[in-house]
Amino acid sequence: MNYQQAYDKLEKYGQLHVLKYYEELSEQEKEELLTQIEQTDFEVLSLCEKKETLNPRGKIEPIAVMELPAIEAKKDEYTQIGLDAIRAGKVGAVLLAGGMGTRLGSDAPKGVYNIGLTKDVFIFQRLIENLLDVVHQADAWIPLYVMTSDKNHDTTVSFFQEKQYFGYNADYVTFFMQDMAPAADYSGKVYMEAKNKMSTSPNGNGGWFLSMMKWGVAEKMKQAGVEWLNVFAVDNVLQRIADPCFVGATIATNSAVGAKVVAKTAPDEKVGAMCLEDGKPSIVEYYDMTPELMAEKTKDGKPAYHFGVILNYLFRVKDLVEIVEKKLPLHIVEKKIPYLNEAGEPVKPEEPNGYKFEQLVLDMIHELDSCLPYEVVRKKEFAPIKNKTGVDSVESARELCKENGILL
Ligand code: UTP
Repeated sequence: MNYQQAYDKLEKYGQLHVLKYYEELSEQEKEELLTQIEQTDFEVLSLCEKKETLNPRGKIEPIAVMELPAIEAKKDEYTQIGLDAIRAGKVGAVLLAGGMGTRLGSDAPKGVYNIGLTKDVFIFQRLIENLLDVVHQADAWIPLYVMTSDKNHDTTVSFFQEKQYFGYNADYVTFFMQDMAPAADYSGKVYMEAKNKMSTSPNGNGGWFLSMMKWGVAEKMKQAGVEWLNVFAVDNVLQRIADPCFVGATIATNSAVGAKVVAKTAPDEKVGAMCLEDGKPSIVEYYDMTPELMAEKTKDGKPAYHFGVILNYLFRVKDLVEIVEKKLPLHIVEKKIPYLNEAGEPVKPEEPNGYKFEQLVLDMIHELDSCLPYEVVRKKEFAPIKNKTGVDSVESARELCKENGILL
């Protein structure tokens, strides 16, 4: 793209300020900026104007959940089905590690954060240890696909190499990168991160399968015979990955997707709740939970939206191939975005200062016809690290690790 073409594109979207420092740049920097302008989808920025009406909700109703007693009753049967699938190489795991983890406030990828007290215990290490439990139980390696982003790819890959994959078999670990999206101020003007670079953020965790396809990872995975993918977040240090009983229950109930859920601590807890939306499985985000929904009860008097998702889903690969063509909704999320001030100096804000644009994995659920919400014991499987202190923090996760006999 040449200067004039870049100018025309930016003018169309009201983003001409991107060229403010153009004349100061070296030839190479000019080239870099023009390439970035060419590759950027500015259309998303116009969504800021329609923020309030962006994703209207359909009719929300309760969904049936497989609760702990029902799982316990069939535990052996489900576990056997799951182990058989794992041993046949049909189950892979996808670690979503492309996020910026801004709330934790570390510049490094979240997975390299050390939660140890008397020894090193990195977040990635905890996840690998959990996955290794199943590898040993099944006596079979489980392919692990790790999604990174432009912001943390190299650090993540070298960290795994340096730590010898925490004992995992490197032949079964594949990295791939997600796409980026522009990040803007509250009026929809893209921020500049440097004089030759617009601010960008990873485009959410909803594009993971598309990125697997782009990187050729999906094709290799299909050739290897993987039929199910357990997608999970980087920050829950207690989660069970490729959990045989969960895998078996999802297969046995012929569900298109399984979703691990936990009992919410309060009706207004900040987790998305499983539900039906216009008759299809869905997740109602905590900010969409009206007082009416919070008060609603099932026929047997239990809270109707009592089970929250923990970002641990088991997708059937053949359905992913179909739904990946559909455009998932975009969410506008308030974040702290590094930018250049009027004087052209870099600023790292302490508070959120603008929007990033994300597709979310939870929206993939709504594209499918059936979902098995599968309850897990909260204290045993849910220790998310979002913040440094307080709720869902390093502190609370350490406490939960201790309760589960994990030495830190
Ligand atoms: P979060 O919603 O906690 O987002 O991600 P985040 O960006 O990591 O953290 P904050 O909000 O800035 O503090 C949930 C999971 O989705 C992954 C994260 O790495 C985490 O495992 N994720 C999120 C991606 O892989 N890509 C993204 O673009 C966003």
